[in-house]
Amino acid sequence: LASIEVDVSSLQPGMSLTAKWRGKPVFIRNRTDKEVEDAKAVPLEELKDPVARNANLAPDAEANDLDRSAGEGKENWIVMIGSCTHLGCVPLGQAGDFGGWFCPCHGSHYDTAGRVRKGPAPENLPVPTFTFVSDTVIKIG
Ligand code: FES
Repeated sequence: LASIEVDVSSLQPGMSLTAKWRGKPVFIRNRTDKEVEDAKAVPLEELKDPVARNANLAPDAEANDLDRSAGEGKENWIVMIGSCTHLGCVPLGQAGDFGGWFCPCHGSHYDTAGRVRKGPAPENLPVPTFTFVSDTVIKIG
């Protein structure tokens, strides 16, 4: 399928789900305020990959928290392809040293904005093209 629609109405803050799109897992997380604050507090110069990797934005957009998220007013939502940018394993949620995701294959740590912070992964988890078609439905692709 070129695109899918995912109902996220059941996701309270702190909950996530994994959808399947083009054969890959897509992580959708309704982040808590603390997770958003933690991500916002990280200085950009501390990031291993300073690029947002967000298909909805310009290719050189910076990896600040807003540009990693679903954007203004929907900063709590994060949508990412769940494939480690090292060698493609599926990272585990709410794990690792930065409270985001952890890839058990070779130890890459991602923060609560899905940005790589430690380990061999070279890039942030990619954000696919997506849009909210209603308050509770996300269209991916
Ligand atoms: Fe994730 Fe190697 S595949 S760290």
